[in-house]
Amino acid sequence: MHSSVTTNGNQRTMEDVPLRDIIQKYGSPCYAYSKQAISENFLAYQQALSSRNHLICYAVKSNSNIAVLQTLANLGAGFDIVSVGELERVLMAGGDPTKVVYSGVAKTADEMRRALEVGIHCFNVESESELILLNKTAAETNQMAPVSLRVNPDVDAKTHPYISTGLKENKFGIDISRAYEVYQQAAKMDHISVVGVDCHIGSQLTDISPFIDAMGHLLLLVDRLAESGINLKHIDIGGGLGVRYQNETVPSLASYIDALDPLLKDRSETLVMEPGRSITANAGILLTQVQVIKKNGDKNFAVVDAAMNDMLRPALYDAWMDINSVEITSDILKSDYDVVGPVCETGDFLAKDRTLAIKEGDYLYLSSAGAYGFSMSSNYNSRPRVAEVMVDGDQTHLIRARETIEDLVRGEQLVKEQ
Ligand code: LLP
Repeated sequence: MHSSVTTNGNQRTMEDVPLRDIIQKYGSPCYAYSKQAISENFLAYQQALSSRNHLICYAVKSNSNIAVLQTLANLGAGFDIVSVGELERVLMAGGDPTKVVYSGVAKTADEMRRALEVGIHCFNVESESELILLNKTAAETNQMAPVSLRVNPDVDAKTHPYISTGLKENKFGIDISRAYEVYQQAAKMDHISVVGVDCHIGSQLTDISPFIDAMGHLLLLVDRLAESGINLKHIDIGGGLGVRYQNETVPSLASYIDALDPLLKDRSETLVMEPGRSITANAGILLTQVQVIKKNGDKNFAVVDAAMNDMLRPALYDAWMDINSVEITSDILKSDYDVVGPVCETGDFLAKDRTLAIKEGDYLYLSSAGAYGFSMSSNYNSRPRVAEVMVDGDQTHLIRARETIEDLVRGEQLVKEQ
């Protein structure tokens, strides 16, 4: 996949813009995304799937900024959403509702109503209760709700336990052993139109075999359903393809699609995919400034102005993310640092034991931060969320303003004293 930062002399740049210029113009910390990298990563999917009917539904949760969605919508992307908030973002960005698949383990009737109103491609239904509620909700407006059952194929994605979703002990989907019966029920419902099947077994997969296993299970089900007269139009294999954060060997998209080919051969169903991370992760960085350098015991700490509320992945998953100086200098001695934020938690770190040549005031950038970065950020410690910037050639665009103190307390009220 495309890496979004290149080194020119002692400068690092995103597309044609020096990282220093971004931080000086928009302040620190801030996220920056390469429009070119996002586009190339999406087009790689389109290219790899060009020989078969397909729909690429970008997983909005990985980076939901409306300008990112706009970039993808303009390239013809569909979207995988998990809430009405995400649906409204897609619509605001000019996304086509007929290319939206709606995942999520507990959609509310209100959410269903809105999705029916705008006419989404399908609901990825994750339980029998949801199916019943959807049938009832669609009946209110005399509509047919297009449905794909999200099945849980009980496949080990061999990834971090927090981002593994396809094992039977996980809360996601309908147990594959029950799926046939649930399809029979669904087919009899007056306001349900059965259109597909889907699964999503986990995220940051670095091995293709769990995808192939999962597809094998889906196809057995699809064929069994066809024998009973239920013919599905699409098969959705979810997202999950990993990216390189450190030194993982990540399967190429082409090798993944090639491995699916013998299974799918001449099948006519549309192949749906829901990639998130593999489109946005390596297209984005988090820029930050060293505030304090200190030593406690034998440990050197670089305290930066970004923290776990801005980028939660290291704290939550112990995720390893690459961190480097924005400018390469030879006049500072290298030392080993824990790069930490100012939040009052020991778990507030961005990177541990990294060799860096830095001093207070220097700028750093965290790589592969475009996915599950800003979208998982919070206001913990009453920290305003940071700015987001889109880089396009030699241009930069502010795509989310840094929050203000007014933003922080928006909606809060003092209790009126008697
Ligand atoms: N489809 C569904 C139904 C999903 O739940 C997800 C991600 C995706 C697609 C996209 O998966 P991707 O291609 O991005 O792997 N916060 C974690 C990742 C959580 C993934 C949740 N589901 C992280 O930072 O590693």
